[in-house]
Amino acid sequence: MAQWCLVRTLDAARHPAGDPEQITADLRAQFLSTFGRDAEGTWFAPGRANLNGEHIDFHGGRCLPMALPHGTYVAAAPRTDGVLQMRTLDPELDSGVIPSGPEAPSWTHYVSGVLWSLQGLGTGATGLDDDADPALITDLTPEDGFGADLLILSTVPVGGGLSSSAALECACALAFVGLGTPLGHENPEEELTSALTDDHRALLAQACIRAEVEFVGAGTGGLDQTVSLRGAENRILSLDCRDFSVNRLNTACLLRGYRFLAVDTRQAHWLVDGQFAARRAEAEAAGALLGFSVAEGHQLREALPERRPKKLHVTERLTEFDEKTADRTQITGPDGQDYDAAACRRRLKHALMEMLRSEKLHTLLSEEAFGLDHMAAEIGEIMTAGHVSMRDEAEVSFPAADRIVDAALSAGAAGARLIGGGFGGSVLVLVHEDTMHDVAAAALKIDAGLRFLDVSPSAAARVV
Ligand code: GLA
Repeated sequence: MAQWCLVRTLDAARHPAGDPEQITADLRAQFLSTFGRDAEGTWFAPGRANLNGEHIDFHGGRCLPMALPHGTYVAAAPRTDGVLQMRTLDPELDSGVIPSGPEAPSWTHYVSGVLWSLQGLGTGATGLDDDADPALITDLTPEDGFGADLLILSTVPVGGGLSSSAALECACALAFVGLGTPLGHENPEEELTSALTDDHRALLAQACIRAEVEFVGAGTGGLDQTVSLRGAENRILSLDCRDFSVNRLNTACLLRGYRFLAVDTRQAHWLVDGQFAARRAEAEAAGALLGFSVAEGHQLREALPERRPKKLHVTERLTEFDEKTADRTQITGPDGQDYDAAACRRRLKHALMEMLRSEKLHTLLSEEAFGLDHMAAEIGEIMTAGHVSMRDEAEVSFPAADRIVDAALSAGAAGARLIGGGFGGSVLVLVHEDTMHDVAAAALKIDAGLRFLDVSPSAAARVV
């Protein structure tokens, strides 16, 4: 009897971003049947992919993220009793795929954390408003007693390393601003999108970061929330995490003929499960040994010079580390814990080299002086070097990601790397359009259950 072999193709395995208008209409209808009243609006915030700059945002390094067309939608209506009632249409959230329990908070904490953080604006308790213009704080502070009914749907794979949690936080932040703040009242419906200046968005990003770090307890660094609120269509954000200043670099030249594709390995990762924090703590212990202690307000970024840092500085820093650890196998971090010196050295090397790769990419993407194929080849090479470092130095990769990277490169991709926090999540591939199907077929041979997401740099959080 003939054997039929069903092979999934790129098209069949695509995870679509969906049609925002259709999604919004469906969500509004579901809102009515869930809460027995109409939603007053729908807000969207995107997930992200990061070209380079993993595990360095919390060291003040440069990151190069872009907003995805995929994101989280929130339909909402206000309440005056201070209560947040939340429901999701997302089976992955609903089934508890985001773990809950004493050491792993439920997805609802991300939402409550954002309201808590916005309510703290202007109280002097947040540390956010030290330099912020008081008018911005007034604009974005919810009125007393503000609460909301919320219905949530996400098209970013939950736990896929593409910032589903930041998309959730940022979409809810916009909903709260739209429904319960002076800026929202003065700018009804779609008007809010253009009324939100970059300064408003930067302050909102800080509020969402604070929700994730202080309320949820994930020691993340702010990359995800920044790009979700401040990304732009056809742009890669060049984000300097020392002060969260951004440049928006045009990708039109690079992406003429080439595409970014995210491969979701379907191995979920969680930033609250301890491994992420452990890697960060080891890097901070290495930094402290070199005199850049977070406890004293320093960041590892200071270990490299301000302008055009050269590789030499990395070598010098590593030599300095070796000299200081010549007679010991453990070092003490700024948190008072002891860490394995060899592991800390690897984290240090990853962080410094990743920072250099970001600086190089920033220059390449700013200049646009290269021939197209040459530029894609150079950028791809940097991406792949980033993966090797994630695998061997940061040690946050995992076998499925390594195999997908190798397969994509063998099938002709210009570059490929694991993105996000690691220990699960997605691989980002840069590939010529003509080779996309070959790359997808090679990846699907490794695991027929993979999902692909088109990564076209998209607009930031907005009203839909
Ligand atoms: C997660 C965190 C970010 C960043 C990345 C790794 O996405 O939320 O802050 O640290 O991991 O680069």
